[in-house]
Amino acid sequence: MPRPEPDEIIPASGTPVRREWGPLILAGFAFLVSLLLTYGAWSSARRDAAADLAAQFDYRARDMVTTTVRRMAVYEQVLRGTRGFMRGSIDVDRRDFADYFQTQNLQEHFPGIEALGIASIIPAGRLAAHEAALRAQGFSSYAVHPRPTGDFATSITHIEPFTGRNLRAFGFDMYSEPVRRAAMEAARDNGAAALSGKVVLVQEGRDAQPGFLMYVPVYRRGAPTGSVQQRRAALVGWVYAPFRMADLMRGLGGTHAADLQVTIYDGGRPLPEALLFRSQDAVAWRQPLFRQSLPARISGRPWLIEIASSPSLEARLDTRRPQVIGVTGIGLGFLLSLVVWLLASERGRAVQLARAMTLELRQSYERIDAERVRMDLILQTTYDAFIAIDSAGRVTDWNPRAVQQFGWTREEALGREIGELLVPPEQRVAREHGFAQFAALDGGARVPDAAGRGFPASVHYGEPAEVMARHRDGHLVPVEIVVAALPAEVGHGASAFLRDIAPRREAEARERLRQQRLDEARTALARSQKLEAVGKLTGGVAHDFNNILHIISANVQLLLKSASQVEGNTKIEKRLHSILDAVERGSKLSSQLLAFARRQPLHPSLVNVGQLLERMDSLLHRAAGESVEIALSGAGGLWTTLVDPNQLENVILNLVINARDAMAGKGKVAITLENLRVDSALAAADPELAPGDYVRIAVADTGEGMPPDVMERAFEPFFTTKPEGKGTGLGLSMAHGFVRQSGGHIRIASSVGQGTTISIYLPRADAQADADLPPQAPPASAAH
Ligand SMILES: Nc1ncnc2c1ncn2[C@@H]1O[C@H](COP(=O)(O)OP(=O)(O)OP(=O)(O)O)[C@@H](O)[C@H]1O
Ligand SMILES: [Mg+2]
Repeated sequence: MPRPEPDEIIPASGTPVRREWGPLILAGFAFLVSLLLTYGAWSSARRDAAADLAAQFDYRARDMVTTTVRRMAVYEQVLRGTRGFMRGSIDVDRRDFADYFQTQNLQEHFPGIEALGIASIIPAGRLAAHEAALRAQGFSSYAVHPRPTGDFATSITHIEPFTGRNLRAFGFDMYSEPVRRAAMEAARDNGAAALSGKVVLVQEGRDAQPGFLMYVPVYRRGAPTGSVQQRRAALVGWVYAPFRMADLMRGLGGTHAADLQVTIYDGGRPLPEALLFRSQDAVAWRQPLFRQSLPARISGRPWLIEIASSPSLEARLDTRRPQVIGVTGIGLGFLLSLVVWLLASERGRAVQLARAMTLELRQSYERIDAERVRMDLILQTTYDAFIAIDSAGRVTDWNPRAVQQFGWTREEALGREIGELLVPPEQRVAREHGFAQFAALDGGARVPDAAGRGFPASVHYGEPAEVMARHRDGHLVPVEIVVAALPAEVGHGASAFLRDIAPRREAEARERLRQQRLDEARTALARSQKLEAVGKLTGGVAHDFNNILHIISANVQLLLKSASQVEGNTKIEKRLHSILDAVERGSKLSSQLLAFARRQPLHPSLVNVGQLLERMDSLLHRAAGESVEIALSGAGGLWTTLVDPNQLENVILNLVINARDAMAGKGKVAITLENLRVDSALAAADPELAPGDYVRIAVADTGEGMPPDVMERAFEPFFTTKPEGKGTGLGLSMAHGFVRQSGGHIRIASSVGQGTTISIYLPRADAQADADLPPQAPPASAAH
């Protein structure tokens, strides 16, 4: 797998500052954009709501004006109807007029109309008669007022309802007042209804409110009214109605009256003196949301109607939707910017994380590399062979020590089946079968003991075991093996350390041998010490015993001398001779004991043992008997020794007799002579044997041999296994004493049924002695 470099994966982008502030700036930008959008939607919603309300207002304002104009048209119609009722005469019966008025039920159907009346024209000449006539009708205080000054006067002669403050108008000359007169003249001249300007009605008391009057001219019945002149000539009076502005407006507007604030000016301009009406709740300083000035023409007179939205209408402005839009927009903008920030900084964090992870990955690669190098180094230099195999049993690792130990090079070993390389042919089938079972175990299964799974039964995972492995050249190498299971993708592979234990085994064998020799040496030492002790005692006794025998012998000799001088003492002489025989035997015994005790007087001389034995040949044959063959070898070229030859002969004779006895008088006695150089190695094996040159005499028989306990005690004096009278048990003791006294050594090697070899090592006399003693046989050839 290619190693990742951090910059390969995540290119470093931008400066650190940009990376740090980037998400914030982006989020801020998103918030700004969303704010702008929200503002757009909010103001659009607000505009929509305002336009709705404006439309509502517009509709109501126009409705209000239309209603007012219509209402006034209705009043005009009422006046025309009244004129029709009068049929061109102002002499209307007062009761008829009252009835007419009542049937109209004006108060109920047309609120705002204050009264309905008739103003009659009274020429100045008929004023008194007129007043008199009315007073005659019962209105005693009737007088036209103010008092007329011109050609004619007008007088309100009829007014309904004829009650209350209306009575104040009774007899009033409206023509005397210019505002009213203008309207009266306009009505007269135009033949149509005419409206007066702003007036204060005469009916008004203290709570006077602005008002106006509407006039319709009444022409004499039948008189022509085509031109202004004719109409002036035909005029007899007016039907009129006074209006109190506040009362009139109260009746207009209906249920939505509260939505509007209405101001009405008489004339076309909003002059304070022309103010007819202002809604009660209208506040001059308030800046209304909507305002409209609408001109109207009522019965030919211009009015200016100003209409403004009232707080209650404005309160109906739908602010909820823009509010919802605003709040929602801001909320969404905040969320959006949060998301943008999160996403942007998430990417930053992800990049950082990826960098950190890549760095970590690289560090772990480096650690793995270092670990691998370390492992390789360990495996290269370990004293043990290291071998790994996969789950198919093929070699995947083979270190230099394995090359050394098993002969296969690494290249040869890799990929080969382990059984072919190391397992002795006779074990391969079992191993392959077992390994197949082992390797097939899946990763989760417990790794079984290797025993019975293709490894020798002694191999258990993790525990060292000793097995035999095959070297490339075919020889078997003893190895100590430690196996570990390696989980593979499928099943298991294994790794093993194998140590060549051949050197260890050799060392162990050497150690065993050394130990054995040490034991033997100890035993020998103990034996020789024991013999030494026994020898000392025996020697002392034998020496004193010998002295006693000398005294006895001397005295018996003297007695014999005296006895031979006396005739007839034959019997005594015989007895004395028997004493001398016994003394002789005792002396022999004591000399044998002294020999054992190494206190025998010796007469050493330079001896060639080969020659000595050759001289003894007939003696030995005689001693051994007919049936025993004696073979002498190695007699030539021997080194010279310095020993007592008679005693040596005696010892060899004893050994041959022992051999004869052990073979029941039948067999072969081999006497082998050789020069032997004991070096330090040989000396180490037998601590008593000092290094140096020796002549070795080995007497080997093919007899019954000695069991260990006999061998142990064979040199002891008087130890014999022979029947009473047959042996004294002094033969080997003597031999031992003599050889030791001569500076040599004697050793027994024997095994029961195989025979016995007694070896005598006699020290070589100095080299010069070999030359001094003329050789009789060919020069040394058996020397080792
Ligand atoms: N060549 C041999 N084969 C088997 N046993 C032997 C041999 N030589 C000695 N022995 C044993 O060692 C014993 C001691 O031998 P040693 O020569 O000291 O005494 P002996 O032969 O019994 O008596 P002697 O030699 O005094 O007549 C013998 O009794 C015999 O059991
Ligand atoms: Mg003997």
